[in-house]
This record gives sequence, C-alpha cells and structure tokens, in this order.
Amino acid sequence: MSKRVYIESYGCQMNFSDSEIVASILVKDGYTPVKSAEEADLVLLNTCSIREKAEYTVLQRINEMNNLKARNKGLKVGVLGCMAERMREDLLEKKKVVDLVVGPDAYRTLPDLLSKVGTGQKAVNVLLSREETYGEIEPMRLDSNGVTAFVTIMRGCDNMCAFCVVPFTRGRERSRDPNTIVEECKQLVASGYGEVTLLGQNVDSYKWSAKDDGATQRVDFADLLAMVAEACPLLRIRYSTSHPKDMTDKVLEVMARYPNICKYIHLPVQSGSSEVLMRMNRGYDRAWYLERIASIRKHMPDCAISTDLISGFCGETEEDHEQTLSLMEEVGYDMAYMFKYSERPKTLAARKYADDVPEDVKSRRLQEIIDLQKRKSAERMATHVGAVLEVLVEGVSKRSAEHMYGRSTQNAVVIVPRHVDGQELLPGTLVRTRIMSATAGSLLGRVLEIVMLSLPKHEPTSKVTLRQAQGDNTVVA
Ligand code: SAH
Ligand code: SF4
Ligand code: F3S
Repeated sequence: MSKRVYIESYGCQMNFSDSEIVASILVKDGYTPVKSAEEADLVLLNTCSIREKAEYTVLQRINEMNNLKARNKGLKVGVLGCMAERMREDLLEKKKVVDLVVGPDAYRTLPDLLSKVGTGQKAVNVLLSREETYGEIEPMRLDSNGVTAFVTIMRGCDNMCAFCVVPFTRGRERSRDPNTIVEECKQLVASGYGEVTLLGQNVDSYKWSAKDDGATQRVDFADLLAMVAEACPLLRIRYSTSHPKDMTDKVLEVMARYPNICKYIHLPVQSGSSEVLMRMNRGYDRAWYLERIASIRKHMPDCAISTDLISGFCGETEEDHEQTLSLMEEVGYDMAYMFKYSERPKTLAARKYADDVPEDVKSRRLQEIIDLQKRKSAERMATHVGAVLEVLVEGVSKRSAEHMYGRSTQNAVVIVPRHVDGQELLPGTLVRTRIMSATAGSLLGRVLEIVMLSLPKHEPTSKVTLRQAQGDNTVVA
C-alpha cells in the first residue's frame, strides 16, 4: 500500500515548525512526504484561526479537496492545527470531505488515528496537554533552503490578550528541555545550516528547571540564548516572539554579548494608546513599551526592531489611532505586520466588548498605518547605505538568476552578485558586503570578503571540519 503525504501549512512559523514534527512522526509510520496534493494519498492542512480571513482561506481550500477526492477515491483529508482545535467535531459536520481532525498537542496519536481512518471511519483528537513539547522528536525539514531552520522552544500561551485566540487553540504555556534544544541546534550545524530561529508565542517567559545531582538547574530565556550561542558559535541565532511586558535587560545583555545572536527584535506593540492596550489586556502601557525600546537601543544601537499592529480594536477612537501613528513615528520600526481587528469567538474581547469600529474606519486606519510604515521602512533601509554588513546567502534572487539574496544580522534582505571572482556564492555562504543602494524592500551589496563558504548540505559534518572550513576558505575580494 502506497502511503504518500502532502502537508500544507497556514499561519505562523510555529505551525510550519509543527508540520516538520508531523512529517517526522509520519515518516516513522511509513509515509513519504510529496510536494503536491495531487500526488498524495493523505493531505494534511495545518491550519490557523488567528483572524476570520485566515479561517476562510482554509475553508475554501478544504472545498477544493472535493475535486481531488473525486479523482482519487482513496484520498484521505486531515485538518490539523489551530482550526482543528477551535472547531473540533464541527469541522466534520461542516465539511464532509474531512476524515481527520487533530489538534496541536495530539500529533503523536496520528498513526493510530490514521489506522482508524484507513478503515473508513472518521477520527478526532483535540486533547490539549500541559506537558507535550515533542521535545525529543527530530523534525523532518520541509521546504528547506538548507540554510535557515526553525526550532520550537515552547508551546501554548498563558497571556490572554483580549483579542487573541491562541490560548484557546494552543493551550497552556510549557517550555521544552533546553538540552534537547541545544542538541537540535548542534544537529542543524552538522547538517550545514547557518541560521536558526527559536520559536515561542512569548519566548521571554521561557523557563525550565530540573534537579541535577540534588541541585536545581534553572534556565530562563536569556540563559537558553547563551547556551545555544556557546554550543553553536557558527550558527546565527534569531528568535520570535518577544513580549514587551516580559522582555528583560538580561536578554538584551546576552544578545549584545554574542556576535552570533542576530541584532533584530520583533516586539509586537499592537497599539500606541495606553487605554487600548489596557483593554487588550497586554500588561504594559505606552510609556513602558517606549522604555523597553530605549533599553534595546542602549544595549544595541544597531539593533533592528519590528512590530505587529492592530487597527480598529474595540472602542478605538480617532485619538487612540493617532497615538499609534505617533508611536510608530517615534520608534521608527524597520518592519511591521499590520492587521485589521477581527473578532474571535470565546476571546475576552468577544465576551466583554463590542466590535464597534466600523469596517470602513478600520480599513482607513489600517491604510494610514501601512502608508506610514512604508515611509519608515524606506527611511530605515536608507540608513544602511554605505555600511558594511555580513550577509548569510539563502538562495537565488527571484528577480535575477545572476544574483543571490540573503539577510543581514538586522534581518534586512541584501542582494549580492551570484559570482565573485569566479567563485559561486552558494546558499549558506557568509559574506561581508558594502551596501551600495537601498529600495523599500531590499539592499544591494558589493561583496568585500567571503567570510565562510557554504558547507555540504545534509551530510553529517563534525564541528572540527566546520571550523577548518571556515579557516581555509576565507577569501578577501
Ligand atoms: N504571540 C505573539 C503574536 C501571536 S499572533 C505576540 O504576543 O505578540 C500574531 C499577531 O496577530 C499578533 O501580534 C496580533 O497583532 C495579530 N492578531 C492576533 N489576534 C488578532 C485578531 N483577533 N485580529 C487581528 N489581529 C490579530
Ligand atoms: Fe496571543 Fe497575547 Fe499570547 Fe501573543 S501573547 S499568543 S497575542 S495571547
Ligand atoms: Fe495561527 Fe495558531 Fe499560529 S492561530 S498564528 S497558527 S498559533
């Protein structure tokens, strides 16, 4: 019996990371991942509930599965992730084409659920867990460029921001054993990866404690960052997401201390108005947030900062909106994700406040936020012109086969020539560049020096060889 699985991920990076866990579990169960739904016997949609539109996109995609099933009678369709958790059995009622519904903490039971599905029954497991971290499961890297990878360090969220569905779909917060995190990062280096992003809904509240020979070992997020940075000096380290109420100076000190921790922080503010922030139950006000920004700038003057913003939250006045714009002016974000408020069932806001900002006002405010951010992004990009930045090459530029793209430590996209003095810059190469010009979306760099050539991909390499590779291959252009 052929067992080919196709996994499609929606939503945040944590969902992508989960899909890699799912792939790993299914490969052990005899499945082979394939690159399109048409080739598969099992299609899994790993879904997102964050906004109504996100769910709508998935519901449309589920409808398309009817056509596929008509052509391939044996096809099974499963819904995983946050929508599975939120809608549960209702999904089977609403969408007859769905055979399987599995929440984010139940992926270990997939093989059992699939054998049930194999006998023609429907299967559901949406139990949330207080312990599950999939800690020891080595993810199977999907759609990988072989250079950058995600590593989940914690799951769930205990914050209860009034607008947010995540605590309902992902359950209680729990942290993963730091030793398994470090091991996974070492494994990435051994497979030729150059960068990792540590993931959690609120990484600043990462905490782990374990008894070791009678003594208690306590690890917070700053400690974890330092552990990974020390264990993998050749690996660039990023993380997401910080929470303004929990981000400590200790984290900033660790970031400043290690050159391999990228100078980039995603610090979602959501609104510039203290009153709105209070209704959002974010746990900080405007002044607190601006103090955190000042502390980042003090510890790392060249650190890039990005954010998330919501327009038209319950009760948002024109003045509140003006405060969001003025905060954006003041901070000068390098980048922002900007959303219209979308009411989610069961959340504090849905229960307590009226979704009272009219749709056209939400849209107009969002547009003003987007326009301002475009200007700010261009300003920030322009400040890089003339600077010398290290760039980790990720792949061939979409616009030109003669160019490669990569990222600076500040997460800015940098375009570099594909060949330098007859040497091809393969993905994974680290180069030092002089920035010649900037657009709103990317920088153009001239290569000054190849710091480290890319390593053979996916072949276990010892760390010693890695060091030699760095030493031997330094070329000054
Ligand atoms: N854990 C992260 C963010 C998770 S969701 C944090 O706390 O910052 C990603 C972003 O989606 C949020 O930062 C918020 O800006 C947006 N978002 C979440 N719920 C939303 C909703 N109901 N409507 C609109 N945007 C929302
Ligand atoms: Fe949602 Fe807030 Fe948790 Fe982020 S911190 S996932 S916005 S509840
Ligand atoms: Fe969406 Fe769930 Fe992530 S709701 S944003 S996939 S945690």
